[in-house]
Amino acid sequence: YPVFAQQGYSNPRAANGKLACANCHLNQKAIEIEAPQGVLPNSVFEIEIKVPYDVNRQQISADGKPADLNVGGILILPKGFKLASKKQISPEVKAKNKGVFISPYSTEFDNILVVGPIAGKTHQELIFPVVAPDPDKDADVKYLSYPFYAGGNRGRGQVYPTGEKSNINAFGASQAGQVTEITTTEKGESTVTIVNSNGVTTSQTLSTGLQLLVKQGDIVKAEQPLNMDPNVGGFGQEESEIVLQSSARVLGYLAFCFALLLTQILLVLKKKQYEKVQAAELNF
Ligand code: HEM
Repeated sequence: YPVFAQQGYSNPRAANGKLACANCHLNQKAIEIEAPQGVLPNSVFEIEIKVPYDVNRQQISADGKPADLNVGGILILPKGFKLASKKQISPEVKAKNKGVFISPYSTEFDNILVVGPIAGKTHQELIFPVVAPDPDKDADVKYLSYPFYAGGNRGRGQVYPTGEKSNINAFGASQAGQVTEITTTEKGESTVTIVNSNGVTTSQTLSTGLQLLVKQGDIVKAEQPLNMDPNVGGFGQEESEIVLQSSARVLGYLAFCFALLLTQILLVLKKKQYEKVQAAELNF
């Protein structure tokens, strides 16, 4: 959950660019960013993180039952960019984001936004309404091109903040040896007993809902998966760029282009006029 990242990492983006979510959501799955290429100061715009997956697939929940996947995401904006206030958001985006709660990562980083978990079936696109800063009001902000980072996740993580593994894992055999016994409780929890060549016995409990890959009598290597990896989700991250554009610069550029066009046209007209004079002179 994003809150696990908020509690465990003051800065969710490590020096190597890895986002905190990837530490616990171990499977990698692609996401996409959709954002404007340039924005004007104080303008409100949307950045979309697309978290596609096959919505017909289910994962196992904490109690081992099949469950739909939820999605969540994180958006690391350039300094000064913030979540748009309710008043600034268009009715169209408000309708799309009904029941979706986007919040700043922390009081220190209000340019980082998190959302989730929310139902993946209805939200494969996470829409973040953002307001651009104004360089006239904030001296730290310049008219520049800035990188920004986004992460999107579907499905449960593999590690809890305590370091404990969740049941969404392929569990490896604790030692090499022979599987001498597999017992399954009424609830579906299995206990796998392995005896090694020295007669040392270990037993491991695999939670409900996991599909075993081994059977009694099998010889297994240490760390060989005992169950099928139940993970159908995954986390992905991407980066992109956004230009904080000055309207004076845009107008200046347009004026320059117009002036260029005009002088070129005048040049051609002058040439035509000169050609007419030349042609007239030839006739005499
Ligand atoms: C569950 C997103 C960070 C561990 C989830 C779910 C989402 C999510 C959407 C629900 C999945 C579902 O129900 O199908 C994120 C995002 C993160 C993040 C966007 C970063 C901003 C972390 C971190 C950890 C973690 C840092 C570990 C410390 C887990 C675990 C679950 C989970 C163990 C399953 C919880 C349960 O159902 O018992 N996460 N997560 N997540 N996340 Fe994360």
